[in-house]
Amino acid sequence: MRQGRYWLDTWKHLIAYDSKRGAATVDIRSIAGTINMTKLIAGNWKMNGLLAGSVALAGGLAEKVKANPGLADVAICPPGPLIRDVLTAVDGSSIAVGGQDCHWNETGAHTGDTSATLLADMGCSCVIVGHSERRADHDETSDQVKAKAEAALKAGLVAIVCVGETEAERDTGQTETVVGRQIDGSLPGGATPQTVVIAYEPVWAIGTGRTPSLEEIEAVHAYIRNRARESHGLGSGLRILYGGSVKPGNAAEILSVEGVDGALVGGASLTVEDFWGIIESCP
Ligand code: PGA
Repeated sequence: MRQGRYWLDTWKHLIAYDSKRGAATVDIRSIAGTINMTKLIAGNWKMNGLLAGSVALAGGLAEKVKANPGLADVAICPPGPLIRDVLTAVDGSSIAVGGQDCHWNETGAHTGDTSATLLADMGCSCVIVGHSERRADHDETSDQVKAKAEAALKAGLVAIVCVGETEAERDTGQTETVVGRQIDGSLPGGATPQTVVIAYEPVWAIGTGRTPSLEEIEAVHAYIRNRARESHGLGSGLRILYGGSVKPGNAAEILSVEGVDGALVGGASLTVEDFWGIIESCP
């Protein structure tokens, strides 16, 4: 068994154990240093799926992961109302379950929102924050994303913080400026490689079937790593995922790019066959 898997299992166990005791935070830093041994493949289901199909998808994936341990750390982020059933469906496997968003407050009058505390209490291990669809559809600012990420850390969740440029920004040579600003503004205070994962997702590559060249991905990942080191003291131990039209057909080459520590997968995470094809492509 690879150390990365041990890390994930331990992490889930600690969270489950801790939430039983009702504690708000989980110390996952004690197992620092093993996080980068294995790629992280995270599925973002977005607003897709109904109950029965989602349980079948999660269960089918859990069977694959149990039968083929150690290929990658695997997380799935279903729509909020499905989390409990998905958690039950993956029980006994090493698959982590996460939210797609959280509020920055722990509780209160915020109709329609979900707190990081509740996600953790239910058994989630991570939460995506700052996805470009939330930045666009809900006008989320980097300040808000940062507050959400801080709430996630406080609840003991790993925050998967998304950044990425639009096509117009790339075409006008602003990729580094935009991504740099998002890194500076969105990463939570006190972030560590064990509590924060960055997902680089060029907006124009999401759901379009288009991806940057491998050289472009490598260059932006290197830029992000440097920037996160300068602004938040993060660097070599930090996981940086690539997201945007990752499919079984391109996963092997993307996941082999220097500085790519995994993938955040949308459309191709919606079938066992496609998502497993990506997991199997991990070098
Ligand atoms: P996609 O989405 O894989 O469907 O392009 C990725 C994402 O938005 O996380």
